[in-house]
Amino acid sequence: MEEALINIKNTALSFILETDDPKNLEEIKLQFLGRGGKLTLAIKEITRLPQEKRREVGMLANEVKQTIENTISERLQKLTQKKHISLSKKLDVTNPGAKPPLGHLHLVTQAIEEITYIFEHIGFSRVRYPEIEWDYYAFTALNFPKDHPARDDWETFFIKEETNPKMGEILLTPHTSSGQVREMQKKQLPIKMLNIAKCYRRQSDVSHTPMFHQFEGLVMGKDISISHLKGTLDYFVKSYFGEKRQFRIRPYHFQFTEPSFEVDVTCGVCLGKGCKLCKAGWLEMGGAGMVHPNVLKFGGIDSKEFTGFAFGWGVERVLMMKEGIEIDDLRLLYSNKLEFLEQF
Ligand code: PHE
Repeated sequence: MEEALINIKNTALSFILETDDPKNLEEIKLQFLGRGGKLTLAIKEITRLPQEKRREVGMLANEVKQTIENTISERLQKLTQKKHISLSKKLDVTNPGAKPPLGHLHLVTQAIEEITYIFEHIGFSRVRYPEIEWDYYAFTALNFPKDHPARDDWETFFIKEETNPKMGEILLTPHTSSGQVREMQKKQLPIKMLNIAKCYRRQSDVSHTPMFHQFEGLVMGKDISISHLKGTLDYFVKSYFGEKRQFRIRPYHFQFTEPSFEVDVTCGVCLGKGCKLCKAGWLEMGGAGMVHPNVLKFGGIDSKEFTGFAFGWGVERVLMMKEGIEIDDLRLLYSNKLEFLEQF
């Protein structure tokens, strides 16, 4: 008997809550509480129970009745209220429309636009070269002899495809320097190229993502010297990071530049004094150097007549170094987490 009452209650409640039409509520009420209603009939059965059970079951039946009645009136109120609101909304033509959420460009896209703008200002042109590239352009033509151990520094993804006798294997560009010789082969001197592209390396941790972006500059012409490189670095550092930031170059080694440098920028927090974040006051930004004569040769350019400089830095890296932006885990940039991306 108790079970039957509970069943009646549950069925009634599900009917009540599922309907959107106040008229149906009237019918449901009749169906359960009317003269021939399910609950009414069940209550009649109580008299047949043994004396000692009647009181308890009677109380339960009452409770079920109460619940059904209350739920019906609450639902009725809700449905009629809703109607009321939507009606008034329809009538109030002065109400502003619901605005769709406004998105914005991804943090990295914003940085790429800003970097492009800065370099275009001093005459650089954006170019694009293949992301799926021959080993030849990524390494061989950049003066890496075959099987040279320095190739390992670039932790490259190779693609399982037939190799080409001259071009070698196919790979995902591990750096934007693969555009250097392609640019030289266009034979349009002087060159002022800005190549911003996706790069791929076998690495993934808080400060590395397997796909990231680099921006590469290549300037080539008559009498191009280290002074031009330094002037360009200074201009970029001041424009992108702010007037107070300074840079320095340290001797380094790259196969494709001679001499080669690593470029450091003063920390945005302590401005070079040294703090918890940067330790020594300087943050490493990336590589640069004067284009190696062998690379010019691969590009079909006479190294006696022309010289050039190149630099290549990580977009995500300069973004992190910019004042005010601190990202604990770089991988968050590509996680599609809106809570994170909406902050910028
Ligand atoms: N391609 C180098 C890198 O990925 C950076 C670089 C570019 C160095 C141009 C010198 C000149 O680390």
